[in-house]
Formats: sequence, structure tokens, C-alpha cells
Amino acid sequence: SKPDAALDAMRPVLPADLMERASTFDPAPRLARLSAEGPIHKVEHHDEPLWLVTGQDAARALLSDPRMSADRFKVKRLRDKLDPAMRDKFAGAESRAGSFITTDPPEHTRYRRLLARQFTMRRMRALTEQIEAIVKDRIDVLVAAGPPSDLIRDFALPVPSLVICELLGVPVEDRGHFQDDTIELLDMATDLEGLIEVGTRMHRYMWGLVQQKRAGREDDLLSELAHTSDMSDDEMVGLANLLLIAGHETTTNMLGLGVLALLDHPAQLKALRDNPGELMETAVEEMLRYLSIVDTGIVRYALQDVRIGDVTINEGDTVMCSVIATNRDPAECPRPEEFRIDRPRGRHLSFGHGVHQCLGNELARIEMSVSFRELLRRLPGIRLAVPAEDVRVRTTSTIFGVKHLPIAWDV
Ligand code: HEM
Repeated sequence: SKPDAALDAMRPVLPADLMERASTFDPAPRLARLSAEGPIHKVEHHDEPLWLVTGQDAARALLSDPRMSADRFKVKRLRDKLDPAMRDKFAGAESRAGSFITTDPPEHTRYRRLLARQFTMRRMRALTEQIEAIVKDRIDVLVAAGPPSDLIRDFALPVPSLVICELLGVPVEDRGHFQDDTIELLDMATDLEGLIEVGTRMHRYMWGLVQQKRAGREDDLLSELAHTSDMSDDEMVGLANLLLIAGHETTTNMLGLGVLALLDHPAQLKALRDNPGELMETAVEEMLRYLSIVDTGIVRYALQDVRIGDVTINEGDTVMCSVIATNRDPAECPRPEEFRIDRPRGRHLSFGHGVHQCLGNELARIEMSVSFRELLRRLPGIRLAVPAEDVRVRTTSTIFGVKHLPIAWDV
């Protein structure tokens, strides 16, 4: 099979010379040059007119413009490009139920309202306690077995998975399988057959879980939705899958790359370890800005002609916000190429903007601050266990990340 071509039809991809980073943390040279020229650029790719937004203001204006749709299938030309098998699998109402990240208002508004009721102060407080317990537990395991240890395998992958288990109410006895499958789902991002297989298994599991929640009543998000909303089974399954897909790989890579950024800046690491109470909040924001992991993942489709600055985006055109470029817009952030954990909190695009702004942003911030605080506290002398040039980062995927991060520490 040719998974890349099939997947390309599902989402736009940037030409490699705009996507492959110059270094772990720095944008491609061509992207940096474009950003210096202006806020929005036409970069034809795969015969599709693609607009790349590199200015923070322009990105925000477009992401809050109701003429810009999150639903690629509303554009006939793009819908027709999909081969029929893919169209049945991915564009049908059943497979898209609940996955509101690709819907527009008013359909989207209904989901956000139902979910906003779930992300209450009470639930966030309970989740914070669970996150502290999960993080401590994973570090105990890591400390008992190491050094060395692969921070991704032993910490950054399991922690967000276990947090989503808490959120959804996945029973403890299912968590081993759940985690193996979710990790496989992430690992096989380019092997289409494998992806469909594990996706089907996951779908079946979620379906069973929803039935379980309808039958009983526990204190978790799915149970609440099962008993207090009008969501169908398909919608609940789609929603659970969306939370998993949106919340796992992103947080994993923030944890891994966040540690890598600190190791690359020893003075900042020391400052954060010495004073997490004062610095953690700005440190987490700076990591979100500096790492820009959802690099090319914020995409919209023009439903009408849209005039912005001195360009006209035509109906049907694709618009991609470059998160790394907008996060380094010098109008927004002085000396943007520097990683400074005490930088005053400013605007960034790492959680998106507008109606689709990340639903899990508070949860993700809590996961990050608890994790970094505990890792620095429990692993004195934390360092790479391999030469820095052996750490492989993945720069060509929608989500920027690191696959393995071998670390050591003082015992
Ligand atoms: C949406 C980033 C963690 C759930 C988004 C968007 C971004 C993003 C950029 C907007 C996409 C767009 O506009 O097209 C991140 C990052 C995370 C993170 C960087 C980690 C640091 C999470 C977590 C959850 C979550 C932990 C839930 C458990 C969602 C959902 C949406 C979303 C449901 C769709 C919201 C909507 O369409 O209204 N995220 N996310 N995310 N995120 Fe996150």
C-alpha cells in the first residue's frame, strides 16, 4: 500500500524545505526567511493552493473568522480527491460522529457546551490529585529500574495515557491493553493497514466502555455524558477517541521535548529546580511557545473569498498556520529564538485560537507542571545518557516529537 499518498489526501503537508527544522528547536531556514518577509504566503503544494500563515495577528484573525472552516470535506474539490474507499472510511457521518475538532458552529457549539460542563473546577481538582499520584508512581518505577531509562517509554508515553484513562473512566484492569494500543496507534502513524487494525480494536474497546458507562454510573466524564446528555453511542465513541488522539501524543511530546530543552539549557534547568514555585508557570508557557509541537496541525478551509492584508484567499483554498513561525513573530515576542523560562507570559498559538482552542489546555498545563516539578526533584543530576547528536527528533510529522530520550541521573 502507499500510505503516504492516502494520508496526504486526508491532510495537507508542507514541502520538506518548509517543514524540516534547522535544528531540534529552530525552524527551517526557508520558513524563517518567509516569516521575515510578511505574515501570509502562498505555497502551492501537491497542486493545491496552500496559504501559510507566519504572523501571530494574521493567524488569530483567520482562526476567529467564521468563513474559515475546520471541515475539509465541505470543499467539493478536496472531497472528490479522496479515493472512494477512503471516503467511506473517513468522510462518512458515522466515522465522524463525535469528532468535533473538524466541525464548524453550530454543530461544534453543541459539543463544546456539553464538554464545558465536564471540565469543572471540581473535576480539575480531582484530576490534579490523580495526576500527582500517576506521576509519582511512574517516577518510582523509573528510579527502581534505572539509571539509565528511556524517558519517553517509561514516563512521557504512560503518563498522558493514564490521565486520559482517569478522565474517561477506563477501569484499572483494562489500562495495560489500553496503553499498549494507544502507543501502537501513535507509533504506526504512517502504516495505513496497521493503523486501521489497531484503530478498529480501539474503536471496539471504546464502544464497550460506553455501554458500560450507560449501564452503571461512576464519577467520570463518559458516565456523566452518558447520563446527562443526548449524545448517541456513536458520538460518545467518537468523542472518546478524539480526546485520546488529541490529548496523548501532544502531551507526550511536550514532556519529552520539555526535558530536552531544559537539558540543552543547564542554567535554566537549575533555576527551575531551585525555584519551581515561582518559575513553573512561565516555564511551561515558554516550553509551549518555544517547542511549538503542533507544528503544521492547525488548518482551515476557506468557504468564501477572504481578503486579509493585501492578499485574497479564494474559496476552497487551504490555510495552514505555522505554529513555530507565529510563535516566533518578533512583533509578539522579543528575541524569539531564545528559550527563557522567566519570559513574561504572552500570546502564543500552541493551543490554537478561536472556537477550537484546545479543550484540554488546562489539563495539559497541570500534567506538565507536575511532571517537570517531580522529575527535577526526584532525578538529581538528570542528563542525557547518549551524546546529544544521537537523540532523534521527528520533524516531518504533523506533531513534532522525540521518539526516545535516554536519560541518566545521580544515585
Ligand atoms: C484542540 C494542542 C493537549 C483535547 C487543540 C488544538 C491545538 C491543541 C493546537 C487546536 C486545533 C485546531 O484549531 O485545529 C494541544 C497541545 C497539547 C494538548 C499542544 C499538550 C500540551 C490536549 C489534552 C486534551 C486535548 C490533554 C484532552 C484530554 C483537545 C480537543 C481539541 C483540541 C478535544 C478540539 C477542540 C475543538 O475542536 O473545539 N489542541 N493539545 N488536548 N485539544 Fe489539545
